[in-house]
Amino acid sequence: THVVTESCIRCKYTDCVDVCPVDCFREGPNFLVIDPDECIDCAVCIPECPVNAILPEEDVPADQMKFIAINAELSPKWPSITKRKAALPDADEWKDRKDKLGELKR
Ligand code: F3S
Repeated sequence: THVVTESCIRCKYTDCVDVCPVDCFREGPNFLVIDPDECIDCAVCIPECPVNAILPEEDVPADQMKFIAINAELSPKWPSITKRKAALPDADEWKDRKDKLGELKR
């Protein structure tokens, strides 16, 4: 599966959802996740994300490993998103910030 990692938090650019052939993105208040049961590992979403938030599970770095469980945990709880929409209003201010996990709204 592919995994949405920390850099998406408080940005949510949503370019990724337009290209997904299996509609596996789920939308929370300030973050997206990928449903690991639906993702077919096509990887077309990876270059779409302006903050490089999406990675194949096997390439997730050690400091982002908790996002594998977060995608699995939140994807059944959040609604599907299949159409691109405006990024969060202050996305550009948050896109280069690190350690944003505390900002994640569930
Ligand atoms: Fe998030 Fe990047 Fe998609 S910021 S919403 S994973 S395009």
